[in-house]
Amino acid sequence: MKKVAVVTGASSGIGKAIAERMVREGFCVVMNGRSLEAGAGFDLEPRGGSAVVSTADLLLPDTPGALLDTALDSFGRVDYLFVNAGTIESAAIDDIDIEKMCAMMRLKVESSFRLIYTFLKHMKKTGSGHVFITSSVLGTKTRENSGAYAAANYALEALAESLRMELSDTDIQITCIEPGLVRTNLHRDWPVHPQELLHISNALRPEDIADAVMDVINKKDYIRIPRLMILPKGHRI
Ligand SMILES: NC(=O)c1ccc[n+]([C@@H]2O[C@H](COP(=O)([O-])OP(=O)(O)OC[C@H]3O[C@@H](n4cnc5c(N)ncnc54)[C@H](OP(=O)(O)O)[C@@H]3O)[C@@H](O)[C@H]2O)c1
Repeated sequence: MKKVAVVTGASSGIGKAIAERMVREGFCVVMNGRSLEAGAGFDLEPRGGSAVVSTADLLLPDTPGALLDTALDSFGRVDYLFVNAGTIESAAIDDIDIEKMCAMMRLKVESSFRLIYTFLKHMKKTGSGHVFITSSVLGTKTRENSGAYAAANYALEALAESLRMELSDTDIQITCIEPGLVRTNLHRDWPVHPQELLHISNALRPEDIADAVMDVINKKDYIRIPRLMILPKGHRI
């Protein structure tokens, strides 16, 4: 029986790498991203895997339910949820764009909480599942000018840690992935890329995060990995 995953933020960066890797590994995947076009630009020549695309906006409260329905209608089940879509707003408090900051909080916190709430109800009915949350190393500590972004990730970590305890005797798992700097579109509007600001010679590639996810998926059933921090060499934080 093929396993089924729903991946948000699958049009770019980390989510795209995870979705493509899973399809290549034979999983069935619902890819979500507003800028996706069905089938366009993706390597979908899998070993038996397949993908369907959802372009729904995660800021709409009905989107989590619609994504669950798409997975069930298309593939009959759902085994993995990747709560991954996000933006970053990072600046000194006098300079930050309050509207963009609040939109980030709605996407990274509110829409993530709605997704987790919706999918866990289903996973509890079926008795199994695995929720991966892309938090950040800034879900474990903050730094100057990054309070809001860190707060969004702290919120995800707090919910995940609470759920880990609630679900510890079940076959439903929660894993927070905590990347350091990954070369994606996340910082595309920054005048200077953080790779230069932080003097990191080799940022992580999105594929490095997909590798780590597959390692977690392939571990033995009785092992739980609630948090996984992945940093590039030279990322001091
Ligand atoms: N890159 C890093 O260094 C880094 C480090 C730690 C953690 N993270 C976290 O990793 C996650 C993925 O980021 P990334 O680096 O891969 O960034 P990215 O390349 O910019 O991808 C962000 C994704 O979020 C989706 N998205 C944004 N707004 C959306 C909305 N309203 N509805 C649906 N989808 C939306 C985008 O799709 P559309 O625009 O097509 O909708 C895109 O697929 C984020 O949560 C980020 O905080 C990143």
